[in-house]
Amino acid sequence: MWYSKLDRSLTNGLIRRYQQFIPLDVNANIVSINEGDTPLIRLRSLSSHKLNITVYGKYEGSNPTGSFKDRGMTVAISNALAAGNRAIICASTGNTSASAAAYAARAGLVAFVLIPEGKIAVGKLAQAIAHGAHVIQINGNFDDGMMLVKDLAKTEQIAIVNSVNKYRLHGQKTAAFEIIDVLHRSPDFHYLPVGNAGNISAYWMGYQEYHLAGHSKNLPVMIGCQASGAAPFVRGEIVLEPDTIATAIRIGNPQSWDLAWEASQNSQGWFLECSDHEILAAQKLLAEQEGIFCEPASAASVAGLVADLANNKIPPDSTVVCTLTGAGLKDPDSALLNGPAPMSVSADLESVKRTILDNIS
Ligand code: F0G
Repeated sequence: MWYSKLDRSLTNGLIRRYQQFIPLDVNANIVSINEGDTPLIRLRSLSSHKLNITVYGKYEGSNPTGSFKDRGMTVAISNALAAGNRAIICASTGNTSASAAAYAARAGLVAFVLIPEGKIAVGKLAQAIAHGAHVIQINGNFDDGMMLVKDLAKTEQIAIVNSVNKYRLHGQKTAAFEIIDVLHRSPDFHYLPVGNAGNISAYWMGYQEYHLAGHSKNLPVMIGCQASGAAPFVRGEIVLEPDTIATAIRIGNPQSWDLAWEASQNSQGWFLECSDHEILAAQKLLAEQEGIFCEPASAASVAGLVADLANNKIPPDSTVVCTLTGAGLKDPDSALLNGPAPMSVSADLESVKRTILDNIS
């Protein structure tokens, strides 16, 4: 048995919480770091009393490795272990590699992660290294890495834990369950950043399954938000050289292309693009007005909502959820680069006092 009886009562995690909805090998020992159960936070600066629009942020940065990937990884790694794999592999823009490394460490599996050299945030790289993954930097982008990983897994006994692994989406769909458990209904509109497009597909699966099970009467409209330089769904075709400051979603050839289109079309939703400037403005708004520090890619959902609110696309009396996919500390460099430099003041009372008085108004 993986956990003692006492451990079990202390460790929840989403597989145990939503057991009947999660496909798990009968022999599986659950590999969990108590992921899920993340806060749904009311965003006052985006809500409107006058129009009765309420906006929430689903803050996935409070997962154990700081992103939503942990939801998928607990299911993918538990099943990979049960299937007898000794090693796992993924291509990643950073968060998948951090999460895969952590869950593989907990499971005693060897982890290989392929990342685009120089294009992943430093916090994510630090995580993969700290958890003992074999980090392979390639002089290509995420899409190149994904192709290599898929080719490798054809001949080698190694489990892919990217979202092409069907178990990943089953874990990630639980975020939709949690939202319904709190609101006792689905939101009217759900905004998500879209990169490889697994997460939007997973949420839609979750909303539908919980709806069918009788936990919510309605279904949300799904809105996928992409960075302008990496917006294949907006363009309607693969983008060959994707680029954006939001490195987590710097993807031009999303693997869950069909599922994401289905989510968008069947929910009467849409895809939109946000400039890097709009993404950074949304990140700043969340940090400075809501007290929530998320990484740039995460703020794409809010950037998309800000644009749609300005265009009156959200009718009165709506409930809106934006997923904030990852923690701000993942990418300290972009925060330091895009924020003001700290003030330097000499260490005497008069100078410090003057600085405070000059800035207090
Ligand atoms: N937000 C963050 C912070 C991400 O890390 C990702 C994806 C997304 C949004 C987009 O989610 O791919 O399901 O559409 N990161 C992957 C990675 C690609 O390798 O960490 P998606």
